[in-house]
Amino acid sequence: MELLRKGSELELRVEQLVFGGRALSRLDGFVVLMDRALPGQKVQVRVVKKKSNYAEAQVMRILEPSPYQVLPACAHFGMCGGCLWQDLDYAQQLAWKHRHVSECLSHLPDGLQGPIEEVTPSPVIYGYRNKMEFTFSARRWLSSDETARADVAYDRSCALGLHVRGRFDRVFDVHDCRLESPEAMAVVDVVRRGARESGLPPYDIRTHQGLWRFVVVREAKRTGQRLVHLITADAPGADRAVERIARMLEDQGPPLTTFVHSINRTRAQVAQGEDSRVLWGAGGIEERIGPLRFRISAHSFFQTNTLGAERLYEAIRESAGLTGAETVWDLYCGTGSIALSLASQARKVTGFELVEEAVADAYRNAALNGVENCRFFAGDLKEVLRHTPRDILGEPPDVIVTDPPRSGMHPKVVKALLELAPRRIVMVSCNPSTLARDLGVLANSYIICSVLPFDLFPHTPHIECVVRLDRK
Ligand SMILES: C[S@@+](CC[C@H](N)C(=O)[O-])C[C@H]1O[C@@H](n2cnc3c(N)ncnc32)[C@H](O)[C@@H]1O
Repeated sequence: MELLRKGSELELRVEQLVFGGRALSRLDGFVVLMDRALPGQKVQVRVVKKKSNYAEAQVMRILEPSPYQVLPACAHFGMCGGCLWQDLDYAQQLAWKHRHVSECLSHLPDGLQGPIEEVTPSPVIYGYRNKMEFTFSARRWLSSDETARADVAYDRSCALGLHVRGRFDRVFDVHDCRLESPEAMAVVDVVRRGARESGLPPYDIRTHQGLWRFVVVREAKRTGQRLVHLITADAPGADRAVERIARMLEDQGPPLTTFVHSINRTRAQVAQGEDSRVLWGAGGIEERIGPLRFRISAHSFFQTNTLGAERLYEAIRESAGLTGAETVWDLYCGTGSIALSLASQARKVTGFELVEEAVADAYRNAALNGVENCRFFAGDLKEVLRHTPRDILGEPPDVIVTDPPRSGMHPKVVKALLELAPRRIVMVSCNPSTLARDLGVLANSYIICSVLPFDLFPHTPHIECVVRLDRK
């Protein structure tokens, strides 16, 4: 294909969005993938990579708009790595997500028993997140508008915001993220100001020097409580500088419930730390899902879209179809939210979770809700399931609910599921591709009865699914 060389420029009509969010076009049948384009658009692109069976191209100009294009709400749209699809009509976002789930599950050897249901939309499509992580950087990225302004001398040495799309090492200052609330943005503005005024540098991912690393803002949608978690390196002056920011937030920020400081001594760019200390408040916030109350602390996993999670948990309850007589296991249980939402319909629920702090929260949540038939095990599931004596684990489960991270279940966990042979399995997954992989193994022994997709992440290509499996 002569026209398709690295560096060549072409005009293409975008045909579809592929799993993961990229756009696809064909030139005489040859696939070209693009990062930021919508179906129906005519685009001018430059080829940046050519492989034997596909090419990757960068969109230079949009020559004709898409009929499905809408105005993005966020000022940072285009530069930010967060919302890839904010300019795509919401009904279209749901339709593409449905297609991607269908494509991922189409290769199952035993097939599906019924159709994949329509995607349940998110109850709200902006301001839906109850948690956002913001990164400090010693090299602030400026937008083209900012670079064009000769009259402003920007301080480029300290940024606090989100990553530029495709650039793990570039961060721009966020002032207007529409996925969380304006109050969360106000927290970020105060923390950024405090960090700059401290005179202490952000952590530099190349030299591994510097102090400021991340700030996480958690905001319970049903109670309005807010937690700020500031994560720094272990550098001289950290405690005093953090305490000053905490005071600034008290004086100048929106109402906050608690402030936690942790230290990340590793080189891993993750918004987590150790030696956590609570500067004020109880170190956690309370959120509600349906009638249940949940305590969430700085390091616990909690579904990020509270209102969407209410619908998800309803679907999990319906799929589990409990009568009150069953023993249920909740694998990858986080702070116990699924376990607790099933407890009133089960005889007994046992949750399993890696993070000890989340297990402590799960017990606290059980007490908070007066639930007495749940217990929780901390540890890596693949080890816990294999090495914990049967008399400690208790009787085998009738129903297993499993909600693994994006990487899906470890093969040893899938094997353990097959050996435990519960009557029903409810799989909850945020990644249709690892879901398909794990279902492929389970489908030898289980019938896949229903697949219910949920949009918990509007404007991104992500999609959550609840799958019911009954033993053959
Ligand atoms: C997608 S979250 C589900 C949490 C919970 N079900 C909920 O709805 O809030 C996945 C959880 O699995 C936990 N996890 C990850 N790897 C694990 C492992 N190897 N063993 C046990 N739990 C693990 C994570 O800490 C996280 O809480």
